[in-house]
Amino acid sequence: MEPFVKWAGGKRQLLTKIWERTPNKFDTYYEPFIGGGAVLFHLRPEKAVINDTNEQLINVYRQLKADPREVIRQVYKLDRGPCDKDYYLLRREEYNKKIANKELDAECAAYMIWINKHCFNGLYRVNNKGLFNVPYNNKQTGKSIDEANLMNIGYYLQDADVQIYCKDFEDVCNEIKENDFVYFDSPYIPVSETASFTDYTKDGFTYDDHVRLSELYKSLASKGVKCMLSNHDVDLVYELYNDKSFKIDQMDVKRNINSNAKKRRGKEVIITNYEI
Ligand SMILES: C[S@@+](CC[C@H](N)C(=O)[O-])C[C@H]1O[C@@H](n2cnc3c(N)ncnc32)[C@H](O)[C@@H]1O
Repeated sequence: MEPFVKWAGGKRQLLTKIWERTPNKFDTYYEPFIGGGAVLFHLRPEKAVINDTNEQLINVYRQLKADPREVIRQVYKLDRGPCDKDYYLLRREEYNKKIANKELDAECAAYMIWINKHCFNGLYRVNNKGLFNVPYNNKQTGKSIDEANLMNIGYYLQDADVQIYCKDFEDVCNEIKENDFVYFDSPYIPVSETASFTDYTKDGFTYDDHVRLSELYKSLASKGVKCMLSNHDVDLVYELYNDKSFKIDQMDVKRNINSNAKKRRGKEVIITNYEI
């Protein structure tokens, strides 16, 4: 299984490092910022709780769990037309109507997947009304989906015990118990804008949210929960996770979703609170 969308902060490159640091034994796996799901699909836990505040993204997980065939059928319907700019903009308009009407069904999931493949850089960006506004990527060809992959994801979500939520990360962590394993991959702290970070809301994830997340991490760690967290290698991370029992490992990562080529390489950290 692989992510069904290109997603900012996708974890494909860090997978081996995450895998190496994954505890050998745990009860339930929690991923409160699931995004494209690269880590979940790699680890394939038997019991998991996944969450994200992006309603459209979570709808795709729910629809794939309910009926992957129907999602695939709906994507193929969208694939029937020639994917030029006009066709893309019309589909985007239809998708936005569904968002505005809160029609969270298999068709909406198909739009989400299809548009992610045909929009610029696989970005997900909405205006202040919550409507999707990313332009066309100017590529007429290319498959919109890997059918077998979507079927495998659907079967996995059905067969394993996977609960799917759309809430704030803190609300989904209330039930985490000792010996559960949680991986936090929140929107990252910006590398250069630290000075103005208190106003930083591009991803809707502020300085206060990062403080809240670090407090949650510490409180879970003190209960014996196995916690892993990734972020940029910036000073604030060392301030927030300043605890002798936490291990902070640095690593180099190539970033794809960034139009400025100079900013494509950066250091990241993985923080853990346990020995493997
Ligand atoms: C960096 S992405 C996760 C990347 C993902 N692990 C992957 O491999 O693709 C962060 C995610 O956090 C979600 N998010 C932002 N604020 C949130 C919040 N307060 N609670 C839960 N999820 C949130 C975003 O919608 C986004 O999908």
